[in-house]
Amino acid sequence: MDRALTALYQAHVADRLSRLTPSLAAANYDGVVIHSGSLEKRTVFDDQYWPLRTVPYFEQWAHLSWPECVVHVVPGQKPKLYAARDQNFWERPTEPDWDFLACAFEVIEAKGMGGVAEKVRGLPRTAYVGENGERAADWDVATESWCPAPVMNALDELRVHKTPYEIRCLAEANRVASLGHAAVRDAFLGGLRSELLLHLLFLETTQQDDSETPYKNIVAIGRAASILHHVHYAKGEQEPRSLLLDAGATCRGYASDITRTYVGPGSDQATLQFRALVAGLERLQQALVQSVQVGRPYEALHDEAHDRLAALLVESGLVKMSPDECVASGVSRLFLPHGLGHSLGLTCHDVGCAKIKPRSENPWLRNTRTIEPGQVFTIEPGLYFIDTLMAQLEAGPHGAKVDWSSVRALKAFGGIRIEDDVVVLPSGSVTTSDNLTRAVLPD
Ligand code: GLY
Ligand code: MN
Ligand code: MN
Repeated sequence: MDRALTALYQAHVADRLSRLTPSLAAANYDGVVIHSGSLEKRTVFDDQYWPLRTVPYFEQWAHLSWPECVVHVVPGQKPKLYAARDQNFWERPTEPDWDFLACAFEVIEAKGMGGVAEKVRGLPRTAYVGENGERAADWDVATESWCPAPVMNALDELRVHKTPYEIRCLAEANRVASLGHAAVRDAFLGGLRSELLLHLLFLETTQQDDSETPYKNIVAIGRAASILHHVHYAKGEQEPRSLLLDAGATCRGYASDITRTYVGPGSDQATLQFRALVAGLERLQQALVQSVQVGRPYEALHDEAHDRLAALLVESGLVKMSPDECVASGVSRLFLPHGLGHSLGLTCHDVGCAKIKPRSENPWLRNTRTIEPGQVFTIEPGLYFIDTLMAQLEAGPHGAKVDWSSVRALKAFGGIRIEDDVVVLPSGSVTTSDNLTRAVLPD
């Protein structure tokens, strides 16, 4: 067993417990049971089930990807982990590292879901956290104690600032994903042109099954890169204009979320122009990472991304207006419709940093929190040629200020996104952020 990791994990669980304690007391609870989840049928008309997606609130305590397990937290006590050993003989889930779990939990094995129910039924003043009301009812939890808001808010807050254990997992998730990114980049530049085969290569290199990745790989060649979440892979050879790969890995439930964009061979004018835009966006992305500052609202960083993107659009000749006008008129948002980034952790779009609505012009921004030490978030500016948004621009009041012959040629390349995962360091450190992605996937 990795002793350093074990110590970090013990400290992580102890920290969760001590930070949750006052919130449970304030909400008049003696404890909370957190459910790992139940298997879901692929359709009610079939007898097959989806693989379990463990409830992230459970996973923050214990990485055990078995359905029907429970973490029982009571302030002042070592937390208990009720592990439901499946009694059916059709499948057998992977055994977890019991020694690792036992260093932070009293682990109690139970005979399936019924065995766990016997242990947790009728606990006094106990909240239920999970997604299966039937279980909560079976365990005699009063309905007002199913995911009560004060407890959920406290659990969300625990996910905003990452512990050293979590940062280590996130760094490892970046390392694993970087191997897949390097393999896919080399294969694409070496002549592999099938989105499906590139997707499979990423899975093979990172040794992940499709259901184990933190989100479905986005593998887009050429025009398809204008589809922000392109997950319906073309199976045949594609014209190799560009490749956008947005793909991550998990480590003990923690995600990485990385995007790179590559340009295919060619020296025609459109390829040269697209190559220059990729280089420009790369500089812009790195400048934004340098702009991370404790105390600054993340939304201000998103605004800075638009200022910088507008400058790139003007400088490249794609739009003929001032950068200020490009932002103020909303034109830059038609080239970059999504948010600059989001908190990252047990879910790719992690909770806790989007409690406040963004300004109306930033509807897809998923991080509106002030930047604080311990946060981990993505910085992922993009520049896309999306048919519907370009049509809106052409028909709108600023349509005449765009170089449409270039835009039409660039549509064949789809778009660009460059995405790194960044951890905010304590205030007062020489650099404000650590780039988990560039540490393992250099330029
Ligand atoms: N991979 C999805 C995202 O970057 O948000
Ligand atoms: Mn992302
Ligand atoms: Mn991504």
